[in-house]
Amino acid sequence: MTHTLYILVIGLCCMGMGCSYVESLEYYTEKPAYLESCRIYEPNFTNCSTRSIQNFLDAVVEGIPEIEASFGPLDPLTQEQLIFKQDNSDVATISANLTNLVIRGFSKMVIKESKVSKKDFSWQTKIYLPKLRLDGNYKMAGRILLIPLMGAGRILLDIKNLDIMMYTKTHLYEKGGYTFYNVTAVSVKLEIGGLYTKLDNLFNGRSKEVEQSTNQFFNDNWQDFFEALRPLVVETVERTLLDLLQKMFHLMPANFFVEDIPNSLAFYGRKTKLIQ
Ligand SMILES: *[C@@H]1O[C@H](CO)[C@@H](O)[C@H](O)[C@H]1NC(C)=O
Ligand SMILES: *[C@@H]1O[C@H](CO)[C@@H](O)[C@H](O)[C@H]1NC(C)=O
Ligand SMILES: *[C@@H]1O[C@H](CO)[C@@H](O)[C@H](O)[C@H]1NC(C)=O
Ligand SMILES: *[C@@H]1O[C@H](CO)[C@@H](O)[C@H](O)[C@H]1NC(C)=O
Repeated sequence: MTHTLYILVIGLCCMGMGCSYVESLEYYTEKPAYLESCRIYEPNFTNCSTRSIQNFLDAVVEGIPEIEASFGPLDPLTQEQLIFKQDNSDVATISANLTNLVIRGFSKMVIKESKVSKKDFSWQTKIYLPKLRLDGNYKMAGRILLIPLMGAGRILLDIKNLDIMMYTKTHLYEKGGYTFYNVTAVSVKLEIGGLYTKLDNLFNGRSKEVEQSTNQFFNDNWQDFFEALRPLVVETVERTLLDLLQKMFHLMPANFFVEDIPNSLAFYGRKTKLIQ
């Protein structure tokens, strides 16, 4: 009897050690030195916030173990599958299935401006990406710029000078005596400076010449071609940023960025009273 108990205790110890081996923080309780705290009720908040968010992002790029464990590496980023369908558009009627996607460039994100609303703590963020490159396999059928398309093979999309205007909705909540951002929605507006495309095996390889001239046509008309693909790029960027920001801000208290952020209970309580 005592013998069994002994073994059980050893078993528990081993499990305990196993747990400490993969130990990771649920959230930070001490502000890392690289973060700059800002005060939203003081002038020049946006300048400070812009630097602070850039610092956090740089740390994520260098590798925060908790983010790597839940999100995976940011650059290159992999996506197993993207299914894309666009009907009733002037520029494209297309259904595409992209698999084994590798997306490069997110580590070079530059935060140009990070505004936070005092009204509802939503954000308005200007981001610049010098390059965003997607590699993967495609399977598509449809029509882009009046060209009937059919094929399956490798796809490369190389975007230059991507300006992103990001609109983020948040809901504040309390955890362990801190106020946190729950990032609930991200929407983006995109402008790009250039796009290079290469679709291999277009028309299932029936004619190399037609494949080449079609790719050439898409590159000569990259602005129009991008309009056809815009929903795909927007969705990819929104999905990536939402997932990343949720993980970043469940980990790091909002107080570390906005020192004078109101307690969420007081903040929403006050608003409710105002509405009544
Ligand atoms: C804002 O910050 C910059 C430096 O970061 C400073 O030159 C400027 O005077 C500040 N403006 C205000 C209104 O505090
Ligand atoms: C502060 O932000 C304003 C507005 O975004 C910008 O024009 C100005 O150059 C910034 N100042 C510094 C010192 O970063
Ligand atoms: C997309 O392609 C993958 C791999 O070829 C396949 O498993 C999946 O069923 C396809 N999905 C659609 C909607 O065609
Ligand atoms: C964050 O918001 C989502 C809904 O958008 C909700 O399901 C979730 O419980 C919230 N998380 C916290 C910690 O408040």
